[in-house]
Amino acid sequence: MRTARKRVAVLVSGGGSNMAALIAAAANPGYPAEIVRVISNRPGAGALARAAAAGIETVIIDHRGYPDRATFDAALDEALAGAAVDFVCLAGFMRLLTPGFVDGWRDRLVNIHPALLPSFKGLHTHERALAAGVKLHGCTVHLVRAEMDVGPIVMQAAVPVLDGDTPATLGARVLEQEHRIYPRALALLASGRAQVRDERVYVDGPSAEVPAIAWPA
Ligand code: GRF
Repeated sequence: MRTARKRVAVLVSGGGSNMAALIAAAANPGYPAEIVRVISNRPGAGALARAAAAGIETVIIDHRGYPDRATFDAALDEALAGAAVDFVCLAGFMRLLTPGFVDGWRDRLVNIHPALLPSFKGLHTHERALAAGVKLHGCTVHLVRAEMDVGPIVMQAAVPVLDGDTPATLGARVLEQEHRIYPRALALLASGRAQVRDERVYVDGPSAEVPAIAWPA
């Protein structure tokens, strides 16, 4: 008997290219997760149309309609419970979540960050990487903890920083890798192959199949 696919909600605020990568991966029936709902805090987010075009149910929870973060997060929790969600993926979701919400989803709440954590937490990562003169940059899929851009790392991909890079060219190189590792990392979590012990992620199976660091092909 095949194990049921895990039910995943994706939280977005913007264009949703990472969401689209997850949806595309999950279109394969052999993928261990299905995207059951896309939730946006911004009514105009481009991700909503993309999700709807893929036949995925969309929900708007406009943060401006809530007096504080706790009531917004409670509405979010309700929308997730309503879809019997197993995992929540943040994909360009530009809201800080309350510690209560984050703790409630411990080890089932996933984020992608456009830098090699723990370097360059927060915003404008590509500008800051260029300003720092690093030669390697990249992206990280990690489990979410209450502190921003902190949590056990599931997968990372590194890209070279080239002479003449601008934040836009570097960001595009990183984004391509985001689309590659987010679906892979979610598959590891949804299949149960990635497990957290002592705040580190360990992956069962042949290590060559699941590189911790993926250099662009
Ligand atoms: C990505 O770079 C992601 O890492 C960051 O926000 C951006 C969202 O892009 N958290 P998209 O909406 O997935 O296209």
